[in-house]
Amino acid sequence: MRPRRYSRSFPQLSTSPYSIPDLVADLKRICAEAADEKEVLSRVRPLAERAARAKESWLKPHHFVADAEQGFGVSLLHEEPDHSLAVFAISWLPDRGTPPHDHGTWAVVAGVDGLEKNEFYERADDRSRKGYAELKRIGGRSFDVGEVVAMPAGTIHSVWNETSKVTVSLHIYGRHINHTARSQFDADKRTETPYLVKVAGE
Ligand SMILES: [Fe+2]
Repeated sequence: MRPRRYSRSFPQLSTSPYSIPDLVADLKRICAEAADEKEVLSRVRPLAERAARAKESWLKPHHFVADAEQGFGVSLLHEEPDHSLAVFAISWLPDRGTPPHDHGTWAVVAGVDGLEKNEFYERADDRSRKGYAELKRIGGRSFDVGEVVAMPAGTIHSVWNETSKVTVSLHIYGRHINHTARSQFDADKRTETPYLVKVAGE
């Protein structure tokens, strides 16, 4: 056997640069090629993780700025002219978050800086009464840096920052969430109402 002349080692945590334009180019290719939403989610998931771990390529200090009234800050990083393929950095103030909501499209979210708690729900009513909704909690999980939650259209969840610092996550949607006629829910009052968010600079 020939002796090995040298060995090479690779740092385990190295991340290659991955800009938002790089991500968007990959997203466009996947959406053009994928047969269905399930394939989109499975192929976007690793891209979201890669972009989250390569935050040095795109994350800026202003992405940590959150809206005090809303409890979180929404920075649009990309959308297509028809509002499809929207990418956001969303910052979360400590002890703030969202009510349960859906997205009206598929969603892939990756932790970028800090731990964010997600609770998941399903509808317990028959959807026959407009504005009325009963929710049943079906699970919960906290997502740390690089961890990804991929949600088909129709998923209902809430997000909460239980930490003492502002957290940031990367959100990729099939369509800009203010253009999907999506809903927020009050589980106690059993209401469903439209859910629009304030986007920085809009
Ligand atoms: Fe959400």
